Amino acid sequence: MKSSVLEYLKTSPSYVSGAEISRKLAISRTAVWKHIRALRAEGYRIEARSRLGYRLLAVPDLVSPEAVQPGLVTVFCGRNYLYHPTLSSTNDQAKESARRGAPEGTTIVAEEQSGGRGRLGRSWHSPRGGLWFSVVLRPPLPPARAPEAVFVAAVAGVEALAAYPGVQVGLKWPNDFVWRGRKLGGILTEVTGELDQINHLVVGIGLNVNLDLQDFPPELRTGVTSVREITGGDVSRSELLRQLLAALEHWYLVWLKQGFTPVLAAWKRHNACLDRLLRVLTPEGELVGRAVDVDADGALLLATAGGVRRVVTGELQV
Ligand code: BTN
Repeated sequence: MKSSVLEYLKTSPSYVSGAEISRKLAISRTAVWKHIRALRAEGYRIEARSRLGYRLLAVPDLVSPEAVQPGLVTVFCGRNYLYHPTLSSTNDQAKESARRGAPEGTTIVAEEQSGGRGRLGRSWHSPRGGLWFSVVLRPPLPPARAPEAVFVAAVAGVEALAAYPGVQVGLKWPNDFVWRGRKLGGILTEVTGELDQINHLVVGIGLNVNLDLQDFPPELRTGVTSVREITGGDVSRSELLRQLLAALEHWYLVWLKQGFTPVLAAWKRHNACLDRLLRVLTPEGELVGRAVDVDADGALLLATAGGVRRVVTGELQV
């Protein structure tokens, strides 16, 4: 109902009285006032004048359902949309929702995360101004194929970002969005399943959008960037999220219908690490070599002095 009140204010050319909203939406005057108060608390600037009524002055840059869902072109991604101003980790919340039976495409979004998680057990700095979200997927595939989902999300992310002039992002194996060697975002996928069937797969994406370098702790500043740093201005995070959800749904369906080959081919087109000399930190130790390819299972093939090594898990130091 709050979104209906907002829609009513948005479509009214001038002031609209509380009585009119209450009549048109069939809710009490007190309910109208409560929704106005809640919208103001979310950052909407709503003027109230006696005898004239309410007028919407400014819309905040939020990723609330009211801001994101109108104009969303997906069939399932983002249709069940669970929004939190603050959350520990959208991935944790998505896993919990999935365990309770949340439908495919359920999307958990937070304005900020207090316990954001990255790969390899690292923490993920997630202040207001970024995009932090997780999507529940239920691919009818065995768990052994779950690592492919990182590539699906990576291609989706890069394509959604390409709509922004100058934001030609590259992909660093396996899950980093990079721009001129600096990290713009990352992907954390987590899977739960039986031996032969994925139960649910959570795809968590974090993107530094309307952030300055000052928003990051000093030790991170040399290695990160943001859309604002690249473009020199703010972008609409709700629009970017709509694009990301649409691209994710598109590439997820390509993966399910056509397999991993087209996904991997697209990933390679956007890669920023193949044919380069790299240092890779793996659980077995450090490797140095030239990245020659990513194989059909998503593993990195590294030509080292001791021959070609197949890296399944690791961190590239470009
Ligand atoms: C990485 O590069 O290490 C992956 C970072 C993934 C961060 C995102 S933000 C949304 C989702 N929730 C989390 O706690 N992590 C992922």
